[in-house]
Amino acid sequence: MQLVNHHYQIQGLNLEDICQEFGTPLYIYDADAILEKIQSLRTAFSGLPLRLKYAAKALTNISILKLMKSQQVGIDVVSIQEARLGLMAGFAPEEIMFTPNGVSFQEMQEAIELGINIGIDNLPMLEHFGQLYADKLSCSLRLNPHIVAGGHAKIQVAHINSKFGISISQLSQILEIVNNYQIKIAGLHVHTGSDLKDADVFLQTAAILFDAAMQFKHLRFINFGGGFKVAYKKGDHTTNIHELGAKLKDAFLAFCERYGKNLEIWFEPGKFLVSEAGLLLVKTNVVKKAPTTVFVQVDSGMNHLIRPMMYDAYHDIVNISNPDGPQQEYTVVGYICETDTLGANRELNEVREGDIIAIKNAGAYGFSMSSNYNSRLRPAEVMVYKGQAKLIRKREELEDLIKNQVVADWES
Ligand code: LLP
Repeated sequence: MQLVNHHYQIQGLNLEDICQEFGTPLYIYDADAILEKIQSLRTAFSGLPLRLKYAAKALTNISILKLMKSQQVGIDVVSIQEARLGLMAGFAPEEIMFTPNGVSFQEMQEAIELGINIGIDNLPMLEHFGQLYADKLSCSLRLNPHIVAGGHAKIQVAHINSKFGISISQLSQILEIVNNYQIKIAGLHVHTGSDLKDADVFLQTAAILFDAAMQFKHLRFINFGGGFKVAYKKGDHTTNIHELGAKLKDAFLAFCERYGKNLEIWFEPGKFLVSEAGLLLVKTNVVKKAPTTVFVQVDSGMNHLIRPMMYDAYHDIVNISNPDGPQQEYTVVGYICETDTLGANRELNEVREGDIIAIKNAGAYGFSMSSNYNSRLRPAEVMVYKGQAKLIRKREELEDLIKNQVVADWES
């Protein structure tokens, strides 16, 4: 969002007008910001056979998926439902990569029936796959390289105690199953963690994958997962994708030579593509002066944006209704009956009842992790594209809370 003539805007549209039209709380996404991020990755990895598979879990709205599709970005999905949403958005099955963890073999078979790319993350699943599909299909394998990296303990997923992937120390067991059933392994996959600010983490992972890759004869791609760190506040250290692109290019091309074949290089960015493109716009219900702090109580909370509570995540907050007001310190909290602090001790332009507050970096893992806790309704979603703001998801209504409830009759 930009401040233009005392008004905060996206693509020339005033955010306050958008709130008037669609109401609050409201998720709003700037499509141009997403397109720029796609382009920046393509520039950073130019000269490499790059395939982007957007991690749909970050923001799964079908209109966002369609936007990705329009840019020849594929998708990474982790549930059969995400896969079906991808198909509804118009993706061909071969553009969809299924990388679930701990799913039943039945769900895997449903995915196989859809014709999407299959990713396997445990040895029993590999065995099942080998028994039934080795002669018909290929799959990829998620490896756990034993690397501790990621912005918060909860989003570090490639250490030795992590549930994700097959441990690199079990490579001989993998090979035994692969050879036994003659399974064609089309790709090796890792996702090390989220908020990986250090480009070297990707290079360490690459070295491990490249060594392992020499054991597989039918590879088409190496998939490095997602995890690029974006800026959550001014001055934040982010992944230097250009440095990464340059270093990885040399390592990757050398690996392809060693392997004897040119492979594709895949990434599955979630946050990088959509985090900064999204805002959660909320309204100030109450400005409450307590003895030690002034609370701004808004019409939202951890039910709509759980990241501050779940990962101690910092989200920048701006009072968009009073850009010229004097700065004061506030603690912005939600209306949920929990300590749902969205931002503590923030300098904001003076906040008055009714002011619209923008919570930044809400594009990734905002709406997609929202809930109905406290029987609150989920917000509407709006996308701004080609200078127009359009509703891409209706605000929930009471009916949505009750539609699946069955009031059991114990008398009959
Ligand atoms: N690929 C796989 C297999 C993943 O599990 C994930 C994220 C990604 C790609 C995308 O990662 P990203 O580029 O968005 O960092 N809810 C947490 C993040 C959890 C990420 C889970 N997996 C958060 O809000 O920080």
